[in-house]
Amino acid sequence: MRAVILVGGLGTRLRPLTNQLPKPLVPIAGEALMSRTLRRLQRQGVRHVILAVQYLAEQFLAAYGDGSAFGLNLQIVQEPEPLGTAGAVRYALAQTKLLDAGPILVLNGDELTDFDVAQLWQAHAQTAGVATIAVREVADTSAFGVVASDEQQRVYAFQEKPAPGTALANTINSGAYVFAPAALAQIPVQGFAMLERDLFPSLLAAQAPIYAYQHSAYSQDIGTLAGYLAANEAVLMGRLPQEPVHGIQYAAGVWAAADAQISPSAQLIAPIMLGSGCVVGENARLERVVAWERVTIEAAASLTNVALASDVLIAHHATVEGLALG
Ligand code: GDD
Ligand code: MG
Repeated sequence: MRAVILVGGLGTRLRPLTNQLPKPLVPIAGEALMSRTLRRLQRQGVRHVILAVQYLAEQFLAAYGDGSAFGLNLQIVQEPEPLGTAGAVRYALAQTKLLDAGPILVLNGDELTDFDVAQLWQAHAQTAGVATIAVREVADTSAFGVVASDEQQRVYAFQEKPAPGTALANTINSGAYVFAPAALAQIPVQGFAMLERDLFPSLLAAQAPIYAYQHSAYSQDIGTLAGYLAANEAVLMGRLPQEPVHGIQYAAGVWAAADAQISPSAQLIAPIMLGSGCVVGENARLERVVAWERVTIEAAASLTNVALASDVLIAHHATVEGLALG
């Protein structure tokens, strides 16, 4: 299997965590989401990965090189300017001369998931479709692309973030697809185009067969603070057994690097992740906190639902709630 991973977004909703790191390189429970994704794909049988990069592109090359550390053949393609989710796929495959090389997996690069792409790949091979979309059921579709399909799983509508009350289904695009070359050929050769707003609607308008593959795997977009904290929580609480945490577990879901200095009087309420060099002062109270490296939380500070990038200092007695700080 060969995959293109879309990792070019600006990560605006996760600022300031994404001021210096592209979203897929942001650590989840102490390790970059991208590393977790590459390891999972290798485990599931993917051998060739093309990263479609844009924002802070050079960091992907520095971190992953040719992919050999992950047992993958990795290529990194940077668009000259953001081309959108469809334009980026087309550009990356054109640059690597793979546009006609058979079906290709395409993945959003900002999902923490244990979804098995091999199942999606097989499902696609069993249809005569030009594309297969991995979908899952959610209670609230508002932050997603809605995918409506019939009893044969044939898709008849794709609505990207539909207005309230207009969603045609409760199944959403979970950010993993297989495309046949015939579908890729419909992406304009030049300019900005999105899979969600351009390619799928135009394929459907032309009656091209697109199928949905429904799954119920864990899947969490990390692109907002709430999503970022939820993804950390899933790993820290052990809900994704294949995903390691790098640190010591002091209580269920309370993790810290071996060199973190935590006052015995501090109150830590799971999930907690404190990276290397973090310091927590006397009587500090932390609940649902993810701190990267060298973060100092002074005495009697109180933090709830907070993500802290490296080198942040929280002054004594400060109260912080529902914020990402950098
Ligand atoms: N190379 C490149 N170029 N990548 C891009 C570009 C671009 O111009 N624009 C976005 N991406 C990447 C992002 O980095 C991210 O990994 C992925 O494409 C999806 O973009 P997001 O901006 O995160 O989209 P979203 O979360 O609002 O919605 C998407 O994901 C949902 C599932 O989490 C859509 O695909 C929805 O339909 C879907 O339900
Ligand atoms: Mg996203």
